[in-house]
Formats: sequence, structure tokens, C-alpha cells
Amino acid sequence: MYPRLFASLILIGILTSCGAEAPFHRGASGTDPFVNPNACPGGGNPATALTEDYYNSNLNSIISRDCASCHSWTYSTAKAQATAGDLSSKFYTKPAGTGHAGGTKWAAGSTELDAVKSWICGS
Ligand code: HEC
Repeated sequence: MYPRLFASLILIGILTSCGAEAPFHRGASGTDPFVNPNACPGGGNPATALTEDYYNSNLNSIISRDCASCHSWTYSTAKAQATAGDLSSKFYTKPAGTGHAGGTKWAAGSTELDAVKSWICGS
């Protein structure tokens, strides 16, 4: 009788203390592990992404300057390497150096890579 009551009290103690410490800490905003790091800031605006006008005005000249020694990108071949709203697109990750035989052409935070980001994310 008493041993069983004693065991029950211990069990209740264990059960109620579970969860007292929050096992899943949400970090400060920006470090939240559940936020997809490849998502465009604010979700972007895929409806206005990957336009030819933007490519011609902002990307064509830097691509000719920095990529043409190895690639002959056109609007349509570049667009085929990008998905609107998705910064895991090859046209964003490769020039930034991720798994790119051509190395890091445009570092994170450079105006060139930011221009590609704007193209992929829309505005
Ligand atoms: C020194 C040569 C070189 C330069 C310069 C270069 N690349 Fe590359 N790139 C490669 C090679 C080689 C590959 C194929 C192997 C690979 O995926 O890394 C490649 C692959 C890619 C791919 C993937 C293509 C596919 O079909 O999967 C993209 C996108 C890309 N490069 C973008 C760029 C951009 C944008 C630039 C300019 C900012 C650039 N590269 C500059 C050599 C280069």
C-alpha cells in the first residue's frame, strides 16, 4: 500500500517536472532555426521576380564582366537556373561560391549578389 503510494508520488513528481525547462529555445529573431535560410526576406514578391527588364538593366553587364570567361549566360539560360522566391537557386548560390567550380565570384553582401537576390526575390 505505502510503497505503491510512494512510487506514485515519485512518478507524479517526475511527470510534473518534465517541461519545466523549455527544451526548444527560440533564438533571437534572425537566428530562429525554423526559418528557412533560403527564403527571400519578407517572403519576397515572386510575381515580380525574374523579369527580363531587371536582368537587362542590372545583371547583364556584371555577368558579362565577371562570368563570360567561362559562361555565356543569356536572360533565358540564367532564368532557367533560378526559381522565383528561392535563394537556394543555383544562380544565387553558385556565384556566391557554394559548390561552384568557378569559385566565389560575388561574396555575400556584395552589390552584385544583392542584385541577383533582388532579381530572384522580386520587389
Ligand atoms: C573560371 C570559370 C568560371 C567563372 C568565371 C564562373 N563560373 Fe560558373 N561554373 C563554372 C563551371 C566549371 C561550372 C560547372 C561546374 C559547377 O557546377 O560548378 C559552373 C557552374 C555554374 C552554374 C550552374 C550551372 C548548371 O548547369 O548547373 C551557375 C548558375 C554558375 N556557374 C553561375 C556563374 C555566375 C553567375 C558567374 C559569374 C558571377 C560564374 N558562374 C562564373 C565555371 C565558372
